[in-house]
Amino acid sequence: MKSIQQFFLTVIVLACTLTSSLLNAAEVTRGAMLANSCAACHGTDGKSPGSIPAIYGKPASYLAKALMDFRDGKRPSTVMGRHAKAYSDEEIKLIADFFTR
Ligand code: HEC
Repeated sequence: MKSIQQFFLTVIVLACTLTSSLLNAAEVTRGAMLANSCAACHGTDGKSPGSIPAIYGKPASYLAKALMDFRDGKRPSTVMGRHAKAYSDEEIKLIADFFTR
């Protein structure tokens, strides 16, 4: 009886572990997809090759605030204000996390 309980407990724990790692993978993929559009200007992984500021290695909180400020018109910009308008708060967080992963 005890070993059957242990068996089911093990199965449940494994199922939860697997589900949560699949969910994490889905979040990473969504962040990566959203962040794809940034690479055109900011370089692959945010490591800008030119005069556009690099976003790689900046803290997620800094990136998220910058994007929200651009979006909400609190920070002046040439293109970022228009670009950032496309994203919800949740998407901005995923993008910021992607560049600081
Ligand atoms: C069309 C080119 C272009 C694209 C696409 C673009 N950016 Fe930018 N980004 C800029 C430019 C240019 C600036 C300088 C501010 C301005 O003039 O808009 C900038 C500035 C920034 C800054 C401020 C950097 C700092 O050091 O404070 C952040 C953060 C940023 N971009 C994040 C992003 C993210 C995240 C994406 C993708 C969702 C993105 N950008 C897509 C051109 C772009």
